[in-house]
Amino acid sequence: MTRIFNFCAGPATLPLPVLEKARDELLDFSGTGMSVMEISHRSAAFDEVADRSEACLRRLMSIPDNYSVLFLAGGATTQFAQVPVNLATADKPGAYIVNGSWSKKAFAIANRLGLAHLASSSEDSGFKSIPDQADWDINGQYAYLHYVSNETISGVQYRQPPSVAQPLVADMSSDILSRPVDVGKFGVIYAGAQKNIGQAGITVVIVRKDLLNDLPPAIPDLQSWKIQSEKGSRLNTPATFAWYIAGLVFEWIEEQGGVGRMAELNQHKSDTLYRYLDQSAFYLNDIPAEFRSHMNIPFKITDESLHTKFIAEAEAAGLSSLKGHRSVGGMRASIYNAMPIEGIEALIGFMTEFENRTG
Ligand SMILES: Cc1ncc(COP(=O)(O)O)c(C=O)c1O
Repeated sequence: MTRIFNFCAGPATLPLPVLEKARDELLDFSGTGMSVMEISHRSAAFDEVADRSEACLRRLMSIPDNYSVLFLAGGATTQFAQVPVNLATADKPGAYIVNGSWSKKAFAIANRLGLAHLASSSEDSGFKSIPDQADWDINGQYAYLHYVSNETISGVQYRQPPSVAQPLVADMSSDILSRPVDVGKFGVIYAGAQKNIGQAGITVVIVRKDLLNDLPPAIPDLQSWKIQSEKGSRLNTPATFAWYIAGLVFEWIEEQGGVGRMAELNQHKSDTLYRYLDQSAFYLNDIPAEFRSHMNIPFKITDESLHTKFIAEAEAAGLSSLKGHRSVGGMRASIYNAMPIEGIEALIGFMTEFENRTG
């Protein structure tokens, strides 16, 4: 078996022990004689999968009892619509901080529904920073403040959640479980699974119970966090296998020492790569240090004509999916929880060798 280092932004690399456990249990899950994919989402065996996943996530993030945890089908993009539909009205829209492609998309979807207010944008500066909170236009009546804690494409990350009067709604798709957060500071946290949680197809939504509202009858029940919460996220058939994998990843994080330990490792991994980039005249990351992401590290070669060659040769050397997002070009190393330090070391080794050969 050959496992390579996969730097994909998502679907992303998974911890090997999780894949091995899923493989071992594939044909006969927990003595049922069936795989998890084949058992009813209403069976006792799946109840156990659901309960264990939720309990482990609650332990990892110290989620208080006054929060519901939902495991919903669809990606984080689905939540770009569900957030305003569940929380906002035309009279009291959601306020949005736009500092990257994902927050821009979230705003655009809510805005199309007539439920959004643009509080601030850093688009003019090419999404390389987070607008200063003193300049945010958030003094009106807004149902919530929405932000994206880590902008996966540009590699810009908040160090701390903003402190505002409105309930805070965070898209944490690309940095959930990478560092401790105080869930009690949030109204809603949501995150697509395919980076730090597991496999694509499921999105975790952590919502403070007093924010679970009835929706107008014309809105499908499936969009209602309140109804999904009452139905244990099983109003219809959920993404059962993705839910199961999420539970295995949560247990793996716990075995590693929890989210605090993940944060230490992530700091070490990202420091190592940024230090290397900063001492180099050949490579560059142009995000100011205070905004740099610990999860997604975009970089370029000063001679941009070398990008295609770099990406192809890295791929051939077992360093997969380093191509930057098409909107920014260059390269991007996504180094989520499951990326070991050995992956960073291998990348730096390749970068050094590539520079020596072509620079
Ligand atoms: C921060 C962030 N939000 C939302 C999304 C969209 O997720 P999905 O494709 O699961 O809808 C992504 C995808 O990469 C993301 O990185």
